[in-house]
Amino acid sequence: MSGRRTGLLSRLFGRGGDVETPARDQPATDVELRPAWQRGDGAIEGDAIAFWRRLGILPLGVAPEERADQLVAAAYRRGELIGVTTAVPDRIESLRAQFFMLRAAVDPGHRRTHAAIALIVYSRDLLEKWAADNPEEKIAGIGAVIENEDVAARLAEPYWPVTRLGLVGHMPNGRQIRVAWFGHFKYD
Ligand SMILES: CC(C)(COP(=O)(O)OP(=O)(O)OC[C@H]1O[C@@H](n2cnc3c(N)ncnc32)[C@H](O)[C@@H]1OP(=O)(O)O)[C@@H](O)C(=O)NCCC(=O)NCCS
Repeated sequence: MSGRRTGLLSRLFGRGGDVETPARDQPATDVELRPAWQRGDGAIEGDAIAFWRRLGILPLGVAPEERADQLVAAAYRRGELIGVTTAVPDRIESLRAQFFMLRAAVDPGHRRTHAAIALIVYSRDLLEKWAADNPEEKIAGIGAVIENEDVAARLAEPYWPVTRLGLVGHMPNGRQIRVAWFGHFKYD
């Protein structure tokens, strides 16, 4: 079932009539996605720093201010920041190319509503445009190390069509490495 919950269903689910039921694999459409990549947007950075502090999800030793420099995009629901993506360029040696390694985090109170899918698709497209505009940086795509056991059910699928993230290898600890290639990228 997909689409907006209304009437009886919204009362049964108890979440109000304006929360969307996610269709399988489709990005949430009830989140407002805002670009942050290399914009120095103080408002988004401040919201993201408060988000990381409130949830305590950054690894020890990582300062929120430092992570804010890596912000790609933020998702807002009813004016509240509920998720972010960040990226750092890194070389995947087996592919002999540089990728924007993407991280996503969504507020536990907003998980399983496809906010992360929406953020990842939006962030991929934002970074793809930036990479096309900056060809000298030679960024081949986005990459991700799939760190969350929660997505275990999806690990059996080598290609995720909506985000275009396909399996390209494994870390020594077994975690999957996935990339989505940028359409314009070509090897020298
Ligand atoms: C991983 C994370 C970003 C997912 O956020 P989310 O908004 O809940 O993800 P989505 O709603 O877009 O879910 C996408 C799909 O991922 C899978 N998934 C996400 N959370 C899951 C869970 N708790 N259990 C099982 N599957 C899950 C599902 O397949 C889901 O699709 P479905 O709901 O149709 O089954 C979020 O759990 C998070 O912030 N975790 C902590 C930080 C982290 O581990 N980040 C990832 C590594 S960088």
